[in-house]
Amino acid sequence: MTQSPVFCLVYLFSTGIWPESESFRDDKMESVPPRWKGKCQAGEKFDQSNCNRKIIGARWYIKGFQAEIGNISTEDGAEFLSARDATGHGTHTSSTAAGTYVENADFLGLAKGQARGGFPSAMLAIYKVCWASGGCSTADILAAFDDAIFDGVDIISMSLGSVPPLSSYIDDVVAVGSFHAVARGIPVVCSGGNGGPFPQTVVNTSPWVITVAASTIDRAFPTAITLGNNITIVGQSLYVEEKFDGFYPIVYGEDIASDDAEEFEARNCDEGALNATLAQGKVILCFESQSQRSAISAARNVLIAGGVGLIFARFPTKEVALCTDVPCIQVDFSLATTLLTYIGSADNPMVKFSAPKTSLGKMISPEVALFSSRGPNSLSPSVLKPDIAAPGVNILAAWSPASSVLTNVDAGKTRADESAALLFNIVSGTSMSCPHVSAIVALLRAIHPTWSPAALKSALVTAASSTDEYRQPAFAEGAPHKQADPFDYGGGHVDPNKAIDPGLIFDLTTKDYLGFLCAMGYNNTAISLLTGLDHSPCPNTSNNNFLANFNLPSISIPELKHCVTVSRTATNVGPEESVYFVRVESPPGIDVEVDPPMLNFDNGAKKKLKFKVRICPRLRVQGSYVFGNLFWEDGFDHVVKLPLIVRPVIDNFVY
Ligand SMILES: *[C@@H]1O[C@H](CO)[C@@H](O)[C@H](O)[C@H]1NC(C)=O
Ligand SMILES: *[C@@H]1O[C@H](CO)[C@@H](O)[C@H](O)[C@H]1NC(C)=O
Ligand SMILES: *[C@@H]1O[C@H](CO)[C@@H](O)[C@H](O)[C@H]1NC(C)=O
Ligand SMILES: *[C@@H]1O[C@H](CO)[C@@H](O)[C@H](O)[C@H]1NC(C)=O
Ligand SMILES: *[C@@H]1O[C@H](CO)[C@@H](O)[C@H](O)[C@H]1NC(C)=O
Repeated sequence: MTQSPVFCLVYLFSTGIWPESESFRDDKMESVPPRWKGKCQAGEKFDQSNCNRKIIGARWYIKGFQAEIGNISTEDGAEFLSARDATGHGTHTSSTAAGTYVENADFLGLAKGQARGGFPSAMLAIYKVCWASGGCSTADILAAFDDAIFDGVDIISMSLGSVPPLSSYIDDVVAVGSFHAVARGIPVVCSGGNGGPFPQTVVNTSPWVITVAASTIDRAFPTAITLGNNITIVGQSLYVEEKFDGFYPIVYGEDIASDDAEEFEARNCDEGALNATLAQGKVILCFESQSQRSAISAARNVLIAGGVGLIFARFPTKEVALCTDVPCIQVDFSLATTLLTYIGSADNPMVKFSAPKTSLGKMISPEVALFSSRGPNSLSPSVLKPDIAAPGVNILAAWSPASSVLTNVDAGKTRADESAALLFNIVSGTSMSCPHVSAIVALLRAIHPTWSPAALKSALVTAASSTDEYRQPAFAEGAPHKQADPFDYGGGHVDPNKAIDPGLIFDLTTKDYLGFLCAMGYNNTAISLLTGLDHSPCPNTSNNNFLANFNLPSISIPELKHCVTVSRTATNVGPEESVYFVRVESPPGIDVEVDPPMLNFDNGAKKKLKFKVRICPRLRVQGSYVFGNLFWEDGFDHVVKLPLIVRPVIDNFVY
């Protein structure tokens, strides 16, 4: 190979970038390709010299924000009127996608090792549209899409999203902007949201984007808690407070409720719920609840009440919160019950925190994270979302030293001093899983430059894995020992090596997306506004069957009343002489027949073959969703998996 492929990634939920980070060194980079039309826009503490052969473009957008939200003050150093990142989010996501190799990266001694992005030789173009004070304006996002498309980016990576209820696709800025990108062959990868584990929380659900869920990785931060009776329990934390040594008294939040608060509020460490006299100098045990999901705000409330530490009992999750106000250790409800028994029985209950350790596990099956938003898609349930899962829990990546992550409100403590040196940080979210997939899509594009965005997505979904190397199934946090299903992670956990050679793909064109918009019931005027195309795409008669035959790499039937037949068209991208045979794992209570049961690509004479899938409910029940899979297998390496998602309903069900 004489020349390595050139790729540009974009960060639209970029809060910008910290260009001095080692992750953005350009010494191993190729020169900027002549086709690149982007620019390095100067601003506060950011000039031409901050772009290089790694960061080849940087723009920032504030007009819409000022008009919609208001002026931004930069006097306190908490924001820069430029592409410079004050929050860390943009730096983290950029380095996750395309950061170069950095030796001995760590977070205050934890997770130490070599750090690199998913595609270390990729180039980055930064489009800062979101600001530290919170929020991003739709006008700015659309302007950034226009520029990114014009500049010549290859992938758009968007770690941004709103919360349900979802706007219609014709009103949603991400759907509209990404339609334009995809119509020009630029794949758009989006985070699916952090609204889990509840159903129908997934966002960025248009069929033309790749929507990413978050899963765990094989790294943990076990932290020992020694009780006064010498029993040790092990939770998880990222706390690294050297001064926090020795035994401290521990109380249960509920036992020290302030006179003006309810007991359950104190149990959750809610704001103002703890009695400051009784909390003084103590470690507080509190419980996560539906109303208190955040260890970080619980820690803040402990600090305000004069407490010195927090043990936070969480719904079981591997995500570790970084509490900056007081040291906090998270435990599950079972360990918390052990602690409660101890607190209730000891005369002077005490605990001691040990420093967390970094433990690397065997390659066990990833789990979908508790916080990862779940399907079904609340806007168009026949379009499976999310599409794919990728690592998004406790991810170490570059950070902005300007971010106040470690600045204790109680200034003067060690953490504020350390913040100057915080070049890497550990955070969790679908914002973190999104750039992992962006990097993989960039790699796939490098290998298959002619594939459409839909083909790239199809390869990811149909080649995704749902087991680990020991054939253990993947699980999902949020329900006890629940096997992950397509609403947790779409096709499954991303498998880049298999996606490179998927065998078959299910392709879609802009015309298909227009048909989808018509089937959604949007009128010609609205669709033309979205697409910018000056013609009427919708047929005069309604095409009820459109959604059944929409060539997605999955089959979702949200209301199965009677038998239905759907069709798909497979394109052979593997060896020319391939012959595939079908294998079906029917959803429980559903009959599935595939015709024909064999796809013979006939020594390359045919590239595309259509097949029909007849799906029948066996019982007349008002059901919930059931899941299965349809596989096409060539008997060699190719196993092409289409998730089947069906909800049987009774025709004349009376509410
Ligand atoms: C915002 O800043 C502009 C220019 O600096 C100024 O003219 C305007 O009055 C400010 N608006 C507000 C609401 O502070
Ligand atoms: C706890 O262990 C230490 C040393 O291992 C010992 O000195 C101490 O007496 C023990 N305390 C209790 C309450 O068992
Ligand atoms: C806090 O507890 C102390 C001691 O029990 C009590 O005197 C005081 O009234 C309480 N204050 C509040 C605000 O609950
Ligand atoms: C088309 O749809 C838009 C958005 O729903 C609506 O505002 C408009 O009135 C519709 N136009 C026609 C001609 O029906
Ligand atoms: C739809 O209706 C318009 C107006 O009646 C007509 O001009 C057009 O040819 C029709 N299009 C189709 C696809 O039937």
